[in-house]
Amino acid sequence: MAQYDVIVIGSGPGGYVAAIRCAQLGLKTACVEGRETLGGTCLNVGCIPSKALLHASHQLHEAEHNFAKMGLKGKAPSVDWKQMLAYKDDVIGQNTKGIEFLFKKNKIDWLKGWGSIPAAGKVKVGDEVHEAKNIIVASGSEASSLPGIEIDEKIVVTSTGALELPKIPKKMIVIGAGVIGLELGSVYSRLGTEVHVIEFLDTITPGMDGEVQKTFQKLLQKQGLKFTLGAAVQSVDAGKGKAKVTYKLRKDDSEHDMDADVVLVATGRRPFTDGLGLDALGIEMSQRGQIKTDAHWQTNVKGIYAIGDCIDGPMLAHKAEDEGMACAEVIAGKAGHVNYGVIPGVIYTHPEVANVGQTEEQLKEAGRNYKVGKFSFMGNGRAKANFAADGFVKILADKDTDRILGAHIIGPMAGDLIHEICVAMEFGASAEDLALTCHAHPTYSEAVREAALACGDGAIHM
Ligand code: NAI
Repeated sequence: MAQYDVIVIGSGPGGYVAAIRCAQLGLKTACVEGRETLGGTCLNVGCIPSKALLHASHQLHEAEHNFAKMGLKGKAPSVDWKQMLAYKDDVIGQNTKGIEFLFKKNKIDWLKGWGSIPAAGKVKVGDEVHEAKNIIVASGSEASSLPGIEIDEKIVVTSTGALELPKIPKKMIVIGAGVIGLELGSVYSRLGTEVHVIEFLDTITPGMDGEVQKTFQKLLQKQGLKFTLGAAVQSVDAGKGKAKVTYKLRKDDSEHDMDADVVLVATGRRPFTDGLGLDALGIEMSQRGQIKTDAHWQTNVKGIYAIGDCIDGPMLAHKAEDEGMACAEVIAGKAGHVNYGVIPGVIYTHPEVANVGQTEEQLKEAGRNYKVGKFSFMGNGRAKANFAADGFVKILADKDTDRILGAHIIGPMAGDLIHEICVAMEFGASAEDLALTCHAHPTYSEAVREAALACGDGAIHM
């Protein structure tokens, strides 16, 4: 039986980052992981593999639509699906091995197997029980299907199955116009699949800024994705090589059905805490199955902490990472902190969509006196040169103080551009602070500055 200062359960972005930070702070640390490779959902079946397929399929899109315009002639490449999947697997391998290397470098023991907590201060992995002064549960989340819908990961798939389909389907129905549905829907649409998205609400990407939602839907439709909104999926019947999706339109309760070769169920994820023994420990859970913690990520049982997708808040890898670092610092007696008001969200479609802080709808509802500075990528030279002029940057600032309250970007590299605004918000900056900062020309970032200028006396290139 080994003794540790900290045992982290789960090696996803929350868990592995927590383990590394604990080790850096001088704590003897182990991390339990039952998968064959480290990295959790994000590295193995989530963020990283989907980005590989998004990158590959985007290159194809560029070759098909923009190469000839730039004088690059010749036949557009054809898709070798097996090779594309092999490329994706290679990317996964490089990343998961990278975590293994970091564990070795930081002298973190990888306890291989599925862990449980038989009592506070103890973690059982296989037949062995290890002792830990502190336990961090970072067990993540799993896809949550709809009642009565059976996932076989062949015809009716979650994101996991969608990342390794044996062939590119002719027709795919995506249930849920959230992040997963639109990212993976985009991949297959670019590869030639007819993609039809069915969404319960009347807008795509719930919770996102309304103007961005509308522009985003239009751009995806232009790329060939079809949408049925305001439709509640009732059932999915999978037969031989096909599935039938039955849905009800909420406006008139009429029932309809649609066939496809593959149905991707992307209706959200739920915390994964099976087998940990949390019930027996008396750990308090929310009604949504999340582990309840205090402001320092400690559960109601002293010495047991929880972070990431298995607790409250957005299910985002970077939110989990921040909690992992902060939780490690709290355990080491430092002041760990996460600013939940400045956590960016990104959708890695083309164009990308990114947001931070409040939406215009939220500000209206709160009765806040705000102003909007908006700048279209049509006025950005670099975007025009790169066939990437669709979309805009929108900055929301307090009308009286000019302090930045939120930002919403749809456009090229939005997921990178957003961080300039995150940093500004962390420093409590005004829109004018951004507007007065010199931005290199020609860059996409100039659109951010122009939106900040538009909060004041006006953008220059609009
Ligand atoms: P989501 O919560 O983003 O979207 C689910 C969608 O399904 C919602 O729009 C919802 O209204 C719809 N829906 C639910 N029941 C339905 C029904 N019966 N019929 C039709 N539509 C229905 O969930 P998603 O896309 O599955 O993602 C899960 C989690 O993973 C999210 O928290 C997301 O933030 C995270 N994620 C983040 C990524 C990123 O940051 N780029 C990438 C992938 C996942």
